[in-house]
Amino acid sequence: MKLLIIEDEKITRISLTGILQREGYEVSTAEDGEEGLALFKSLRPEIVITDLRLPKIGGMDVLQTILSLEPRCKIVLITAYASVDTAISSLKLGAFDYLTKPFSPEKLLSILRNITLLQSALDENAELRNRLEILQEKNIIGSSLAIRKLKETIAQIAHNDSTILIEGESGTGKELVARALHKASSRRDAPFVTVSCSSIPESLLESELFGHEKGAFTGAIKKHIGYFERANKGTLFIDDIDDFPLSMQVKLLRVIQEREFIPVGGTANVTIDVRFVCATKINLKKRVEEKQFREDLYYRLNIIPIRIPPLCDRKEDIPLLVDHFFRKHRAEDKIMLLTHEIYAALREYDWPGNVRELENIVERMIALSFSGAIDLSVLDLSDKRRGGRQRENYADYSSFDEFIAKKEAEMLEWAMESCQNNVTSAAKLLKIPRTTLSSKIRRLLPHLKVH
Ligand SMILES: Nc1ncnc2c1ncn2[C@@H]1O[C@H](COP(=O)(O)OP(=O)(O)OP(=O)(O)O)[C@@H](O)[C@H]1O
Ligand SMILES: [Mg+2]
Repeated sequence: MKLLIIEDEKITRISLTGILQREGYEVSTAEDGEEGLALFKSLRPEIVITDLRLPKIGGMDVLQTILSLEPRCKIVLITAYASVDTAISSLKLGAFDYLTKPFSPEKLLSILRNITLLQSALDENAELRNRLEILQEKNIIGSSLAIRKLKETIAQIAHNDSTILIEGESGTGKELVARALHKASSRRDAPFVTVSCSSIPESLLESELFGHEKGAFTGAIKKHIGYFERANKGTLFIDDIDDFPLSMQVKLLRVIQEREFIPVGGTANVTIDVRFVCATKINLKKRVEEKQFREDLYYRLNIIPIRIPPLCDRKEDIPLLVDHFFRKHRAEDKIMLLTHEIYAALREYDWPGNVRELENIVERMIALSFSGAIDLSVLDLSDKRRGGRQRENYADYSSFDEFIAKKEAEMLEWAMESCQNNVTSAAKLLKIPRTTLSSKIRRLLPHLKVH
């Protein structure tokens, strides 16, 4: 810990310095108030021990100036017996403690120990508060186990610089999580830069990422700072990393490992301090198996994977999200228009577009609710849109033929129902010969008894 002693008596200065250095403090000294303040400004010590009576600027003024510059600085005043009153009023002004001359080294050391104890309690407290804030992350909505775990993970990993891979279908909140990670980290005041690999043509990607020098290639009319450098001190969010061209993956790997690179057309290395957060909508491991993604890069990115489950696997989050989006779009007064039927329909639906689709639906509900009610039919949460992901359990079928037969029967039943059991019309609907339909019905739907 850095400590500054401001004391005009040489002998006290020297003896205190000796004692405190032996205790492991990094000690600097000043012999008057002016020098003391100047040293404080340049060294920013955590603790200042200052005499009250000092040449040039007195101890009280030193105290007040230091606290206005750094309210967290711990200041111990040394006074002669006669000025105890002043010392007490200094406590009111924010000094940590005071000592009356003469004092024993033990007395001073015990005050310093208290400072250390207080400081570690304060640090711990700040850390806890920060964790709590992250856990209460207001932007990531959801009460499902998956979302609670996600927030816990963000709180745990935000502070180190490890590379993160976020996997999740479209609209599950990957970018939201990447931003939350940035906000929860000590990089929060530095830039959060997004680069979407799928929207930059392969031929431009290198100079967009690495930047280029003036004249590096035809058209490079001036120096260009790339994404890596723009994200310096902050976070670089590489979206759709699975689209990252195979030919450039080794270069990316090198930047992630070394945190340095050479811009296109440049000669000197540029060093960066960047946290990498990558996202993918697809299973990146599969891309590795297909030899479209380098295995070494995959392992480098996958140090801490975060998987955001699709909304259909955490439908308990829907009511909270709906509520959130009504508020976000300033329509909280319309939440009461939501009926049980609407909630049931929202729960039934499978949400292939995940949270983004839910937000769109909420916007549509708001836009179409001027009549004072929300009509379920306008939401278009129809069965045909669902289906997509709702897979059957194919293991229930003993063979492929059995599955086909069941599907065939279902379609025939539908066609016959639609045509009031008129085989000729049903055959037309299905675009198959009438005789074929008849024989299929005899085989698959014997109860219909057609000839
Ligand atoms: N848990 C959540 N709480 C609140 N809003 C969410 C949540 N998840 C997603 N959203 C919102 O849904 C929208 C889509 O999220 P985001 O852009 O982060 O998804 P994404 O996974 O990056 O999608 P894509 O793969 O299509 O780029 C955003 O408006 C985001 O704020
Ligand atoms: Mg996204």
